[in-house]
Amino acid sequence: MSSSVVSPPALAQRLRGVASSPVRDLLALLDRPEVISFAGGLPAPELFDLAGLRAAFDAVLSTDAGRRHLQYAPTEGNRDLRTLVAGRLTGRGLPTAADDLLVTTGSQQALTLIATALLDPGAVVAVEEPTYLAALQCFSLAGARVVPVRSDDHGLDPDALAEVLAVERPTLLYLVPTFANPTGRTLPPERRAAVAELAARHGTWLVEDDPYGELRYRGSAVPALAAQPGVEDRTLYLGSFSKTASPGMRLGWLRAPEGLLRPLTVAKQAADLHTSTIDQAAAAAYLAAVDLDAHVRGLCAAYAERRDAMVAALPDTLPAGSTWSDPDGGMFVWARLPGGVDTAELLRTALTHDVAFVPGAPFFAGTPDRSTLRLSFTTNTPAQITEGMARLGRALHG
Ligand SMILES: Cc1ncc(COP(=O)(O)O)c(C=O)c1O
Repeated sequence: MSSSVVSPPALAQRLRGVASSPVRDLLALLDRPEVISFAGGLPAPELFDLAGLRAAFDAVLSTDAGRRHLQYAPTEGNRDLRTLVAGRLTGRGLPTAADDLLVTTGSQQALTLIATALLDPGAVVAVEEPTYLAALQCFSLAGARVVPVRSDDHGLDPDALAEVLAVERPTLLYLVPTFANPTGRTLPPERRAAVAELAARHGTWLVEDDPYGELRYRGSAVPALAAQPGVEDRTLYLGSFSKTASPGMRLGWLRAPEGLLRPLTVAKQAADLHTSTIDQAAAAAYLAAVDLDAHVRGLCAAYAERRDAMVAALPDTLPAGSTWSDPDGGMFVWARLPGGVDTAELLRTALTHDVAFVPGAPFFAGTPDRSTLRLSFTTNTPAQITEGMARLGRALHG
């Protein structure tokens, strides 16, 4: 190479120090059929409604009118889809009109749009600790300072939140209050009321990320944080098609207060113009044609058995002194091992036994607890879970 050649400039500052998601990296490494993976938060592919979705795509593409579903479309999203989603949210106790919603390319995009619209570099974001790591990535990319809020077995601790709000004055609070990723925890109603009251009192945006709320295996539904009185003007609620229908379609929605929808829509214009027209049209046709509640009941019945298989195996798998969550829904069990074990090291051993999980450290915004791990129970059958847990037990007990 000639000495007059100058290297191109370095990466943008905002990307330095933002690590790749270890979960995504792991998924790449786990492509060996013999590995039983509890790592990715993947829905069970055999439970996708292949026939129903194929019929929905057929329905929107089989006549000449279907040409419009292959065209550019408005940024806000397909009106039929928004109307159907609004009806479902209203039915679940969160009164919503089609015009309150922006269709997004997965709920992940909603996080990016929120960061673009609300966070200046240096802004403070408060999160429950531990939390969804791609949300941490997203807030870091926006140049925000992420501040952890202590949580316990029942989710975010309102006393800890009051302290963080008073000292740090965050621009927004992000939480997954129902069947959280990674812990599986659910914030009880009285804490929801306390969180809403604190957010209103301190003038903070509240971001409720709810991809798992419909996957309940036990107990009765808890009202959305967004449905709490007094926070209507400050709550952004994120939903997704990913866990109830198909993550590959990349369809989510963002319910936001009136004044925010316009700036969020402008942010989305710059990001991707709009979410896939054909996927939105097929999703609308699908929701109109099938009983999605019945499909979700089927998912819940299957996932409940898988959750039970994993929780039943835990006492014989993990060493004495371990603790774990026993989630009422969602996809994850969160465990903690005694004796200062580093679960990133344990993962190496586990992989030699053809079993995988996600080490807990990347889910922490503050000092990580390296003895924690996340186990997903939805992707494998009960028999595979029993076998995978036996392998994990052998990896642990050597
Ligand atoms: C808490 C949480 N939020 C958002 C997402 C992104 O979901 P999607 O973009 O598929 O809707 C996930 C995916 O696992 C998640 O766990």
